[in-house]
Amino acid sequence: MKPVKEMRCGGFYDAIWYLKNRTLIEFDNALGAFAGVGGFRLRQLMESFDNVVAMDIRQDYLSSITKSGSIYCKCCDSIEYLNSSFPSINFDFIHLDNPFGLFGPDSKYCEHFDCLIPAVKHLTNLGPILTYVISSPYEHDEPRNAGWIDRHRKFYGECYESMTVENLTKVYQRIIEEELKKSTSVRSTQVTVKAFPRYSKDCGDSLTDYYFLILVGDCEK
Ligand SMILES: C[S@@+](CC[C@H](N)C(=O)[O-])C[C@H]1O[C@@H](n2cnc3c(N)ncnc32)[C@H](O)[C@@H]1O
Repeated sequence: MKPVKEMRCGGFYDAIWYLKNRTLIEFDNALGAFAGVGGFRLRQLMESFDNVVAMDIRQDYLSSITKSGSIYCKCCDSIEYLNSSFPSINFDFIHLDNPFGLFGPDSKYCEHFDCLIPAVKHLTNLGPILTYVISSPYEHDEPRNAGWIDRHRKFYGECYESMTVENLTKVYQRIIEEELKKSTSVRSTQVTVKAFPRYSKDCGDSLTDYYFLILVGDCEK
């Protein structure tokens, strides 16, 4: 097994390490739904999975990905893809490394809110989803606007002002369990949520944002 890199960045690597150590999934097909130019997170995905589908809305970004192993690049709006009723591929693991704040045409998307539930439907045997959560969004230097704050309130409900790990864990668990209960095809409504801090306060960083690993179904036995 390859060593975990860049421990200082924590989060993503720790989550992958956790999955690998516990062999919670058979590492086969992964989706990097917001691949970018193939930065460190996509590279780690390529190192960890046999087959990776890298999606990005920008072809120029996908073209600059250094290909290694089995990677298939698809230029598309990945939120539209995940929402489409014709899933052509299912995945063992989905990584949502979406842009911050509002984005897309008419700023209609907000962070991972529009693709989390659709992503659940594209998991083989259900499985894990990893998503990045800004736990202190109003302290970031990003442009704040009413639309964005409104989306946050709607998604996180009463805990939007107190985005502690405990509160966020409950929100993700509730949202996904409610969705699974509606589905007639899923076998399990079990959801386990684990948080991996991205910044280490020990290293002097003031922010502690999180990668949330959402284990859907009975993958954590
Ligand atoms: C945070 S970056 C991804 C970084 C990348 N995962 C890495 O490892 O370095 C977000 C990416 O989302 C892409 N993006 C924005 N809207 C999108 C959409 N609707 N569908 C697919 N990709 C989108 C952007 O082009 C950008 O490359």
